[in-house]
Amino acid sequence: MSLPDLASYRAYLAAHTEEWAVLDSLCLIPISRFYRDRRVFDVLFRDYLPAIARAATTATVECWSAGCASGEEAYTILIGWKLLVGAEEPAPPLHMLGTDADPTLIERARDACYPPSALKDLPSDWLAVAFQQSPEGCLLRAEFRQGADFLCQNLREALPSQSFDVILCRNFVFTYFDSDMQRTMVDRLTSRLSERGLLVIGATETLPEGCAGVVALDQRLGIYARDGAVDCR
Ligand SMILES: C[S@@+](CC[C@H](N)C(=O)[O-])C[C@H]1O[C@@H](n2cnc3c(N)ncnc32)[C@H](O)[C@@H]1O
Repeated sequence: MSLPDLASYRAYLAAHTEEWAVLDSLCLIPISRFYRDRRVFDVLFRDYLPAIARAATTATVECWSAGCASGEEAYTILIGWKLLVGAEEPAPPLHMLGTDADPTLIERARDACYPPSALKDLPSDWLAVAFQQSPEGCLLRAEFRQGADFLCQNLREALPSQSFDVILCRNFVFTYFDSDMQRTMVDRLTSRLSERGLLVIGATETLPEGCAGVVALDQRLGIYARDGAVDCR
């Protein structure tokens, strides 16, 4: 398609509603990596996830990575849960659901094979234990994929039906959506948080003014708890 200017494209969009899906897909930004924003994961693994493991009353701890790209953040939590949280105290298994609007990324997440650049922030001992070399790249070993499920789902249109002890929603909603949509998303995300659940947003993101339902535990790192929950550190 060749159109002379933005106004023409706006007119085209108005006349061809199917074009919105094309535009939407062009706006998905797939950048991610393991252990992205090191300090956030350090604090989650040191303080918050062990507390969730200790307080768990269910057979599994439920975690959701919303906008999971190729699974980098989802698997970071699973690896750390196995190597750190579960190694220090008895912890129930963690079930991780990763959702993303891009079906190609979801396929990659299921394949769990990554270029070295995606792993550069992962602690080197974790890298050695959790990955093996394959002709296609660094392949996550099967034992670290256990408990992971990936689903193609557009967060504007649908939500998982269950509730979660931890929801990671980093580096998309609170960067790319307008503030009304961000407020709507806070309501929708908190509707899926368990009583003591944590919401983790991007370290460079902030929640929009006047949104209720969560309180900051560590605003600098983007870590929030459901409002009214007992402090779970
Ligand atoms: C910049 S990546 C962030 C990945 C990861 N959360 C992180 O922080 O490293 C943003 C991801 O959000 C996904 N995304 C964008 N809009 C979405 C939507 N409406 N529903 C679900 N996923 C979406 C993109 O496909 C992309 O994989």
